[in-house]
Amino acid sequence: MSKPEIRSVPVRSSEITTEHIYRSRRQFLKARGVLGAGALLAACGPLAPGQSGAPQATPADLQTGAQTDELDDPLNSYEAITNYNNYYEFTTDKELGAVLASDFQSSPWQVEVTGLVNNPKTFGLEDLLKSFPQEERIYRLRCVEGWSMVIPWNGFPLSALLKQVDPTSQAKYVRFVTRYDPDIYPGQNSRFYPWPYQEGLRLDEAMHDLTILATGLYGKELPPQNGAPVRLVVPWKYGFKSIKAIIRIELVAEQPATLWSTVAPHEYGFYANVNPDVPHPRWSQASERRIGESGRRPTLLFNGYAEEVAHLYKDMDLSRYY
Ligand code: MTE
Repeated sequence: MSKPEIRSVPVRSSEITTEHIYRSRRQFLKARGVLGAGALLAACGPLAPGQSGAPQATPADLQTGAQTDELDDPLNSYEAITNYNNYYEFTTDKELGAVLASDFQSSPWQVEVTGLVNNPKTFGLEDLLKSFPQEERIYRLRCVEGWSMVIPWNGFPLSALLKQVDPTSQAKYVRFVTRYDPDIYPGQNSRFYPWPYQEGLRLDEAMHDLTILATGLYGKELPPQNGAPVRLVVPWKYGFKSIKAIIRIELVAEQPATLWSTVAPHEYGFYANVNPDVPHPRWSQASERRIGESGRRPTLLFNGYAEEVAHLYKDMDLSRYY
């Protein structure tokens, strides 16, 4: 990202799927748990993978229930989501991630949850899949480079896992860490980046219901290039916060260092909330290119999730805490 290259894969409109899972705004809020936890399971059925060859959703499709997010924007196809990736451990080329990560062994896998907690625990992948009901969450992903997608993730709220380990009163932030192994990750031979990839959230951001650990997409296992076997998804923040292939989650007292804020602190802040009014030092954030569309569309404050998350930042100057 420090060397921005806003290239996009040519996604034909015919690649956008039209599976019928239209959600009204109200259903969507239920799926998020905003209108009551009882609604969550109803929204959890895994979906079939995207089928290429189907036409892009039209206004008529939307009326009859085509696959969209709650703003009525169609989902990106499985093919687009899995062939246009940022995964610096493997490559800086978005179109090569799928190829270079294809042999990545994501099983067996463990996630250690440690630090300022009363009940530290190490979860095997099977524990994560079994102990936490998996839900579907359709989220927009907005990359700081100015492109975006709509992705149907499967996963569970990070808060459910954090509750199990019981953070102490000293815990104020959560740090997420990936593995360091240049034999597996060729990109880690680049000394430009302070490996391993690390990210962080404030504890209240981590506990927010929109924040999930994703274990799949389109009802299938998470592919390596999208962060198998488990990654963070924080939909109101730029995509770089959504760290892939997590091996450790640590509850800490101080704001943790992150890979991007260490590489370029004035370009990539800790908060990284999507904000059209706070430009990146080298480019505007006012608009974005939705993969699969021509032209650009306006970027929404908090990526369209302001109603749910703006209160987290009510006393903060968002241009200072970028
Ligand atoms: N996680 C790790 N471990 N390594 C990375 O390079 N890239 C980030 C984020 N998570 C990255 C990562 C960036 S810059 C973006 S935009 C998103 O992953 C992209 O997610 P996607 O490839 O699933 O679309």
